[in-house]
Amino acid sequence: MFTRDVAGQGAGMGKKKGSSRAWLKEHHDDIYVQRAQQEGYRSRAVYKLMEINEKDRIIRSGMSVLDLGSAPGGWSQIAAEMVGDRGRVVASDILPMDALPDVTFVQGDFTEQETYDRVLVALGGQPLDVVLSDMAPNMSGMPEVDQPRAMYLVELATELAINSLSPGGAFITKVFQGEGFEDWFRQIRIHFGRVVSRKPKASRPRSREIYVVASGLKAG
Ligand SMILES: C[S@@+](CC[C@H](N)C(=O)[O-])C[C@H]1O[C@@H](n2cnc3c(N)ncnc32)[C@H](O)[C@@H]1O
Repeated sequence: MFTRDVAGQGAGMGKKKGSSRAWLKEHHDDIYVQRAQQEGYRSRAVYKLMEINEKDRIIRSGMSVLDLGSAPGGWSQIAAEMVGDRGRVVASDILPMDALPDVTFVQGDFTEQETYDRVLVALGGQPLDVVLSDMAPNMSGMPEVDQPRAMYLVELATELAINSLSPGGAFITKVFQGEGFEDWFRQIRIHFGRVVSRKPKASRPRSREIYVVASGLKAG
């Protein structure tokens, strides 16, 4: 259903040669792209999660983390570093992802029940402390198409988080401000004790994406 959109890179690509070239130039000039290459990370998106975690201290040593929309694997890389040897990371994406040590990967479209179920099997019913979702559909540039698709992925990730996290657990998700956001935000505040939104420096200012950090899942 959706095709590759690595770290938001897909937005607007493939339409015109000129705009693709402009995008590629912006991408390669980007300090976060360069830093990720130098530091051995798979995506510039790692700096978003690092900044969020420095501020909110969600992922800690020994925790069990699920990373949705994980390819090419930047968030999974740093989540695995953060949880250390005593923790574990399960990751899932519609695209293939090169293996990472200590990360269990499930490939599939998360909008399909079968993928959702395979992710649950990979979690093995063990306590889950944190759900991450950086999922984003490939953007067509038409808000009336893109926003419902993006909200649908957020809602599916939210459902899994609420149903699978241990009480007290946390959910960090990318979400695009627009139609459906306010209703979703109201819902999330019912289920979690603390909900804040973040716009990390590595998130492009012109992008409507923000990250919502919801912690302290209420029991029941
Ligand atoms: C912004 S990228 C994630 C980058 C990742 N956090 C990292 O640090 O490397 C968004 C991801 O969402 C995935 N995605 C989009 N639609 C999806 C779907 N229906 N099911 C699963 N993954 C999906 C894309 O394939 C893409 O890899």
